[in-house]
Amino acid sequence: MRLYINVDHVATVRQARGTDEPDPVRAAVLAELGGADGITVHLREDRRHIQDRDVELLLRTARTPVNLELTVDEEVLRLAERWKPHQATFVPEKRQEVTTEGGLNVGPASADRLREALERLHAVGIRTSLFIDPDLDSVRRSADLGPTAIELHTGEYANANSAAERIEQVTRLEAATDLARGLGLAVHAGHGLTYENVIPVAAIPGCEELNIGHSVISRSVLTGIERAVRDMKELILRAREG
Ligand code: PXP
Repeated sequence: MRLYINVDHVATVRQARGTDEPDPVRAAVLAELGGADGITVHLREDRRHIQDRDVELLLRTARTPVNLELTVDEEVLRLAERWKPHQATFVPEKRQEVTTEGGLNVGPASADRLREALERLHAVGIRTSLFIDPDLDSVRRSADLGPTAIELHTGEYANANSAAERIEQVTRLEAATDLARGLGLAVHAGHGLTYENVIPVAAIPGCEELNIGHSVISRSVLTGIERAVRDMKELILRAREG
């Protein structure tokens, strides 16, 4: 099982101030030192967090594979064709959303656009994935479009309110995984996974990659704050000693 770390939220903090820190590319290096098997970034059409510069630098510095999340947008597609990340995951994007809500629409209305986008990325050697809800119909429709993998949206699992609902959602994820594997697709999963809820998803046989962002970045703020304050205090006290 591979763990890809999504560093978008590091860029969110930087964009809040419009400065150059914290740098998601530096965060990616540290995530790799911690054992991340890959780095995920979402280059949104609205450039809310990750910027073109981040992806370009990340692709030059990352020691692990980079997974670029994108929507079917001509400008971003062209960049992906030029940058050639190891993997590209198509996700839905709505301007007002706080984060990616729900999986891709893989129905007839978007099938042609998605198929064409997948073909373009395959043509330049990029592994592709579609972020979809864990229902069997979406898995079958995705397989018809020809991606390398699907990423199952674990948001409903993460939001489950009872043990029974959680079990139901894991069963749903397992069934979608089995069908996808039977159709020749690699299976990834992600969204809303935390230190408290990751284990049942990590245990699903056939799922080979997890994408986790918010929970890991949140914990890193808390685990890092003590050291960060100590460093600042030391500097201030040293100025007084001089
Ligand atoms: N997978 C996809 C396709 C996503 O869009 C996101 C959120 O950016 C994630 C995984 C990670 O979700 P979270 O930040 O909740 O861990």
